[in-house]
Amino acid sequence: MVSLAGGLPAAELYPIAEIQAAAQRALAKHGTAALEYGPVEGLPALRALIAQRISTETGGLFSSANVMLTTGAMQGLDLIGKVLLDEGDTIVAQSPTYLGALDAWRPRMPVYKKLDWTAPDTDALRTCKFAYAVPNYSNPTGVLVGQVCRSALLNDVLESGTWLVEDDPYRSLQFEGDPGPTILERYVAEHPGPYNGPIIYLGTVSKTLVPGLRVGWIVAESNIIQALALAKMSTDLSSSMFTQAVAFELLEAGFDKVHAQTIAPVYRERRDALCHEAALRLSPWFEWEIPVGGMFVWMRAKGNAINTDELYQFALDENVAFVPSSVFDFSGEDCFGMRLNFTRNSPALLREGIERLERAIRKYVSR
Ligand SMILES: Cc1ncc(COP(=O)(O)O)c(C=O)c1O
Repeated sequence: MVSLAGGLPAAELYPIAEIQAAAQRALAKHGTAALEYGPVEGLPALRALIAQRISTETGGLFSSANVMLTTGAMQGLDLIGKVLLDEGDTIVAQSPTYLGALDAWRPRMPVYKKLDWTAPDTDALRTCKFAYAVPNYSNPTGVLVGQVCRSALLNDVLESGTWLVEDDPYRSLQFEGDPGPTILERYVAEHPGPYNGPIIYLGTVSKTLVPGLRVGWIVAESNIIQALALAKMSTDLSSSMFTQAVAFELLEAGFDKVHAQTIAPVYRERRDALCHEAALRLSPWFEWEIPVGGMFVWMRAKGNAINTDELYQFALDENVAFVPSSVFDFSGEDCFGMRLNFTRNSPALLREGIERLERAIRKYVSR
């Protein structure tokens, strides 16, 4: 099976030696404290480091009170749902949307309204609990949202008085150009002083280091952090102090930034391999834009002629997997697209996967 389905980094690039050294330093430094339960908000030194980093990156004034560490950004999404959502509440979100977010919020049975970046629906924003966006190399589309659209959304969020969840795991995986300021940074530029804004920003080491550390963070105004901490208490008491201590060693040394620069060119090469092969083999049936960062290519069936829910079985029969678009659509109705991951497999395997996909499509269309 060639899986183009997951959202996983390239395992062969995992920095095992650096993580091993960081683990040794963490244990030497913290001793048994690294192996205990810890404060629910997270390892104090790592909270302070994230606060300092965000302050430097955005030019704002963030303190540890604005930061809570989580078991991956995924837990941040879950806790936000627990704290902010009541049954039937409205969420304004990009469509398609990250499946993990849809899953996290599903128990509250929210109503979704589509976030239209070119003309945000101000009425929807006024009545929603929060807006959710992944502006940098989104999952599943790989799209980089432009600064004009970010600014328009920020203005509307501020006018409507709602929250904006800015989920940002892919920012460092840039292949061409720079993504520019986050929405959080745009907010801070206009609102100097201690952070007290409506943006709930999520970060993680999963895509730039390794997902297995399960270290993510929420940056938000301090009241929200306190509410999220209460919710986290009953979820897992605290995230792993050990992996937070390891992450601290790596982040303090700036290793995540160095490592992102090592993996980005490899991912770019893989993106090119997949897109080039797809141009040769899949373009009669699908169209796509080449992403300038992240992990995914989002393909749309030309003329909606291929139902990707149906194609999926044909693909599995050819030993290749992708993710059909319907799972990312809150209405579940979009079944004419697919997400392909290019980071996990070598260029040769990606080419093989696309070749298999072409065979699956040919069988599907002539069924
Ligand atoms: C948009 C988005 N948010 C959050 C996550 C979850 O990240 P983590 O591994 O930090 O839980 C992912 C992982 O794929 C993602 O794509």
